[in-house]
Amino acid sequence: MAQQTEFSPALLDYVRAVSLRDDDILKELRQETLDLPMGQAMQIMAEEGQLLALLVALTQAKMVVEVGTFTGYSTLCMARALPPGGRLITLDISEKWPMIAAPYWDRAGVSDRIEVRVGMADHLLADLVAQNGPGTVDLLFVDADKASYRAYYEHAVRLVRPGGLIVLDNTVFFGRVIDEDLHDADTVAVRELNEFLLNDDRVELAMLPMADGITLARKK
Ligand SMILES: C[S@@+](CC[C@H](N)C(=O)[O-])C[C@H]1O[C@@H](n2cnc3c(N)ncnc32)[C@H](O)[C@@H]1O
Repeated sequence: MAQQTEFSPALLDYVRAVSLRDDDILKELRQETLDLPMGQAMQIMAEEGQLLALLVALTQAKMVVEVGTFTGYSTLCMARALPPGGRLITLDISEKWPMIAAPYWDRAGVSDRIEVRVGMADHLLADLVAQNGPGTVDLLFVDADKASYRAYYEHAVRLVRPGGLIVLDNTVFFGRVIDEDLHDADTVAVRELNEFLLNDDRVELAMLPMADGITLARKK
């Protein structure tokens, strides 16, 4: 059986050099976020943004929901991949972070596709199911408080259409999932969700050992 290639920092630099497609708007948003406390840890990697855009295109998504806007990097990547008329609803508990994102979305010409909803994502997702109905979302990306991941996942299974995609970020949680001495609510929640997903027959599953772990669950 083929073995996982070990990606040294030099090899990761090579991968980035030959595959990352970047531009000034993305670079400047990354730079502004880097200057914020916790900015770098919160924002997805540039490579992940490019992957999310590809997944939006692959699923031919017209309706995307995101849990965890922060300064809007993943929002920007996914919104740019939407076709004309596509919509992205992004949820965050704070209105402070999406305000940083707005000028970048404007510059990229995608503000009209993006709707920010502020509040507890658990409630906002329940509202979306009630308002739009089940099976109305093509792709749902989760990147927020880890302790709520299982609740978000259950909303996602309801909201996403058959053949649609649920993308979960941080599913190795900085490697904490395999440290048996760690029992904090976030680590336990990620660990339990990973174990649950292995046998959840409602979805097809792949877990990518990329960035901080990215899980793809395609609804059957
Ligand atoms: C890791 S950041 C998201 C990063 C973003 N995807 C990006 O690419 O920059 C997580 C975000 O989730 C938000 N958040 C945390 N708990 C939340 C909750 N209960 N409901 C909604 N948003 C929440 C935080 O305010 C933060 O902006």
